[in-house]
Amino acid sequence: MRRTLRLKSDEGGLAEAAAILSRGGLVAFPTETVYGLGADATNAEAVAGIYAAKERPSFNPLISHLDSLEAAQVQGLFDETARRLAEAFWPGPLTLVVPVAPTCTVSDLARAGLDSVGLRVPAHPLAHALLKATGRPVAAPSANRSGRVSPTDADHVLGDLDGRIDAVLDGGASDVGVESTIVACLGGSPRLLRPGGVPREAIEALIGQPLEGGHGGEENPLAPGMLASHYAPRAQVRLNATEIRPGEAALLFGTAPLRDEEQAKARLNLSENGDLQEAAAHLFSYLRRLDASGAETIAVAPVPEAGLGEAINDRLRRAAAQR
Ligand code: TXA
Ligand code: MG
Repeated sequence: MRRTLRLKSDEGGLAEAAAILSRGGLVAFPTETVYGLGADATNAEAVAGIYAAKERPSFNPLISHLDSLEAAQVQGLFDETARRLAEAFWPGPLTLVVPVAPTCTVSDLARAGLDSVGLRVPAHPLAHALLKATGRPVAAPSANRSGRVSPTDADHVLGDLDGRIDAVLDGGASDVGVESTIVACLGGSPRLLRPGGVPREAIEALIGQPLEGGHGGEENPLAPGMLASHYAPRAQVRLNATEIRPGEAALLFGTAPLRDEEQAKARLNLSENGDLQEAAAHLFSYLRRLDASGAETIAVAPVPEAGLGEAINDRLRRAAAQR
């Protein structure tokens, strides 16, 4: 058990966070998608600390975060498509899985022994400043215990990891709310390993062809981390609900009412206007709040599959999967 500091998002807080990372400590920090649990990616011992704090299966590779495309190109080999995607969507909620470069300094452990590496340049100004101050790749999975709902503010992080990590840099709520889209560019056609903050349609429009692959999926060895049961609240999750059953909490979307909605133990609407961006930003914190109502089941209204809806539905299906 260690004391977990809550660091302010000022110069002092940033300097302290960078210092902790540089000496091999664990610091959770905000990104535009969700909070990440950071460690120096080049330091295998520090990276091991992430797996321990999260109780994460060690075959699951981590994303390394950088402050620029130039810094990313030291770590990975970018083909034409990868470079175009990086130029279009970085900084932002896109992770590229590319072959390891000869100059790569990301530890084997962070890559889970693969000959590819997951790289992302986040857009959040605090994340950017922290990466700049740290001056090396920072490995960071979402800052929750393995299999739990991803955190979108510092309180969520502390709820899961207080006493297990050195600090959390408090930057308020994450605005995208779902994790980055992961695209593998490993020669041949690019593959979608995980839907996320950059909609598939935006990527396909840029590269002028459909992305291969649906949801990375556990049957897909390219994405070893895509466990079926993931993002799981304590309560059961029931999808595509048209009615509320006794004792259930309700996660709504849009204005169409569910039958017996007023019976719900607790009720939250992802977006009354049916705005998928707003829904993504609320998703994880609303799941947590409905879970805290003590309901045995969270009934979820249907969410359309277009745009960010693909990532939202992917997370909801994982939350609902058999555990
Ligand atoms: O938005 C995000 O991506 C957040 C923030 C903190 O950046 N991070 C995040 O990390 O969601 P995590 O560890 O929860 O998810 C990383 C995913 C896993 O499914 C893992 O299998 C995949 O990325 N991944 C990482 N490196 C990979 C590689 N070399 N090959 C295939 N998949 C990889
Ligand atoms: Mg995660």
